Amino acid sequence: MNRQSRPMLPEWQALERHAAALRSRSLRELFAEDPERGGRLALRAEGFYVDYSKNRVTDETRVLLFRLAAACGLAGETRRLFAGEAVNETEGRPALHWALRDLSSGALAIAGEDIMPRIRDVRERMAAAAGRLRAGQWLGHSGRPIRRLVHVGIGGSDLGPRMACAALRFFSQGGPRIDFVSNLDPGQMGETLRRLAPEETLFVLASKTFTTQETLANAACARDWLLGRFPDRAALARHVVAVTANPQAARDWGVAAENVFEFWDWVGGRFSLPSAVGLPLMAAIGPERFLELLRGYEAMDRHFRSAPPEANLPLLLALLGVWNAVFLGLPAHAVLPYSHALRLLPAFLQQLEMESNGKGVDRQGRAVGYATAPVLWGGPGTDGQHAFFQLLHQGTPAVSCDFIGFRRSLDPFADHHEQLLANLVAQTQALAFGRGREELARDHVPVAQRPFRAFPGDRISTTILADELTPGTLGRLIALYEHKVFAQGVIWNIDSFDQWGVELGKTIAARLLPKIKGEAPASDEDSSTRELIRYVRDGQEK
Ligand code: F6P
Repeated sequence: MNRQSRPMLPEWQALERHAAALRSRSLRELFAEDPERGGRLALRAEGFYVDYSKNRVTDETRVLLFRLAAACGLAGETRRLFAGEAVNETEGRPALHWALRDLSSGALAIAGEDIMPRIRDVRERMAAAAGRLRAGQWLGHSGRPIRRLVHVGIGGSDLGPRMACAALRFFSQGGPRIDFVSNLDPGQMGETLRRLAPEETLFVLASKTFTTQETLANAACARDWLLGRFPDRAALARHVVAVTANPQAARDWGVAAENVFEFWDWVGGRFSLPSAVGLPLMAAIGPERFLELLRGYEAMDRHFRSAPPEANLPLLLALLGVWNAVFLGLPAHAVLPYSHALRLLPAFLQQLEMESNGKGVDRQGRAVGYATAPVLWGGPGTDGQHAFFQLLHQGTPAVSCDFIGFRRSLDPFADHHEQLLANLVAQTQALAFGRGREELARDHVPVAQRPFRAFPGDRISTTILADELTPGTLGRLIALYEHKVFAQGVIWNIDSFDQWGVELGKTIAARLLPKIKGEAPASDEDSSTRELIRYVRDGQEK
């Protein structure tokens, strides 16, 4: 690992100088200079076509960025990741999510133990459970088959399976209907339970730690609901399963031992979809399709480890992200899937990128002094075009975008898909090249309206296309972003696998709870907190 503060690296400084020179060059100029730019600044690999020509980059930028990655020791860090070394330094453990989709028959010794048999064993147990659910053979306490599944989890124990179940809905014939409950707001569980019958409902309690407040509160609600219908704790064995790295806590809660599906502390929550956290997805699409998803992940893992830098997709996305955030100073990044099925991808990537790389201290504990992960947000196209794209085109914050689309639709209807793709490409063109004075005049736009109807252009975007959204494509797409995040963490010299920033709020909430309930005085809190609590209490006492 290169421990040097990044801005001290000559390769970093070279990029700063380069950015200063390139900042004044417009995308129009860059395209005019090189008629083949669109084809040249594009990469085909692992079933993806990635067009990055609408980034403010030149060949020199690329060379300088590869040099930076090398100077930061990316190759060595990648070897350490895949050797199972403790790359998560602040928590002193490896990050082995990639082992979950290693479908070889090989061994993987970590701290003297081959971890692969445990991974394969859980996967087989998941397949057996998913098979029973899909065949209507998982019977509830009353003897009725389970038809509904409620996945209870939050963060990494929710966003992955929730996103993937939506993404692969097309492939989910025959599985149980699945709801997701994550929020502490009782309204979400209440609304879900109103539509369900206990006799045919199975709860999946997913929590790596099995200590998460939201999940335990919702789990307690589910248990009360079940026991309200079956006043017999034995019923829980047929209506509750747990997915956790803390099996003892799940058993203590009341989950039957045979219903506990384990994963391990070396799988970060936001990387956990290919573990037992993917159980609802496997129930939805079946074990075979789930395996296709894993094969997709595995293919991208191989690609990331073996492709040379100039042909390496995750590295390319990582470097573009670093370039845009650090050297061009873009504070935000939008993910725009032109796919209804991928509508939850931005929320999933929000956790993956912002929880991993939203850090201000480097691995040596120093304030970084440069931008790290930008604010990531987004939503599906074309819906976004009628909502927030106004800001992308004419707003003051500069936002880089990932447009994601597919050549073919799984649900073709008339020319809808071509319309969708026309919109995708049109948006990237409008963002990049805008609409200047000449076009406004040519289009006879009244002079008084021209300031409002001009588009500045030079809005950065990368377009990621694939054939169609299959389980394999989804696996490759998620792994693409996972390795992007890892590579960026190395370049930014931050620990991408911890998340200490979520702790403080949890501690304070625990302290405030008795005060909100009126069981303890709030007089020792700051004046804002005191008044907020007073206001809440006044409302509760009416
Ligand atoms: O609070 C953040 C977090 O720890 C995430 O990193 C994690 O994915 C989520 O909470 C849920 O944690 P668990 O799976 O332990 O319930």
